[in-house]
Amino acid sequence: MRVLGAEFTRTCVSPEQFPAETWPEFAVVGRSNVGKSSLINALLQRKHLARVSRTPGKTQAVNFFEVRTGDPRLSTIRLADLPGYGYARVSKSLQREWAPLIEAYLTRRTLLRCVVLLIDARGAEASDENTYAWLRRCGHDPLVVMTKIDKLKRGERRDGENGVRQVLGLPPEVRPLGVSSITKEGREDLWKAIAARLKT
Ligand code: GTP
Ligand code: MG
Repeated sequence: MRVLGAEFTRTCVSPEQFPAETWPEFAVVGRSNVGKSSLINALLQRKHLARVSRTPGKTQAVNFFEVRTGDPRLSTIRLADLPGYGYARVSKSLQREWAPLIEAYLTRRTLLRCVVLLIDARGAEASDENTYAWLRRCGHDPLVVMTKIDKLKRGERRDGENGVRQVLGLPPEVRPLGVSSITKEGREDLWKAIAARLKT
């Protein structure tokens, strides 16, 4: 995908702040620290548009971005960076505040055409399984993406993929994509998969 321009729209801590629905949209979901913000920067070919943090649980709001692309059928698209789940050190009360925000976003956004679910290539956890199942119940067909693939040796990848497949209970025809925000491996394949869904 040719990215012609990308800009940060706004940070939303409540659904009333979500931008109007004007363009097809995709969202990036995943455990805290899985690499959501890094992947967004890699996709948008910008170093610091989405805030990357060493402290898990940093993104506590829905951050929206607008992207202009070279694809004539997707001249402008929107994307959302969602707060990470499953980080134990974030207090339970804070998690209770986030849940309705994420739920409002994922269940009410009519132009949301693609939910990208990020799973650490080194292993899926129960919280990932719960999220995958929950997204399916909401009617989404998540695009499952394994992040930080650079951390696995070539020979470890098949086991990594099988592990993710097993924990999430993926049907045999679903193949998780592997990506690395450091080497940019998988970026174009991911863009293709996202674009295909945005066009439906
Ligand atoms: P929250 O917003 O806290 O939920 O985190 P996040 O999912 O947005 O993760 P973020 O992009 O902030 O990255 C978390 C850490 O993982 C940072 O230290 C990144 O540098 C590192 N990281 C992200 N992507 C990759 C990757 O592809 N490979 C490697 N090796 N490290 C990565
Ligand atoms: Mg983040």
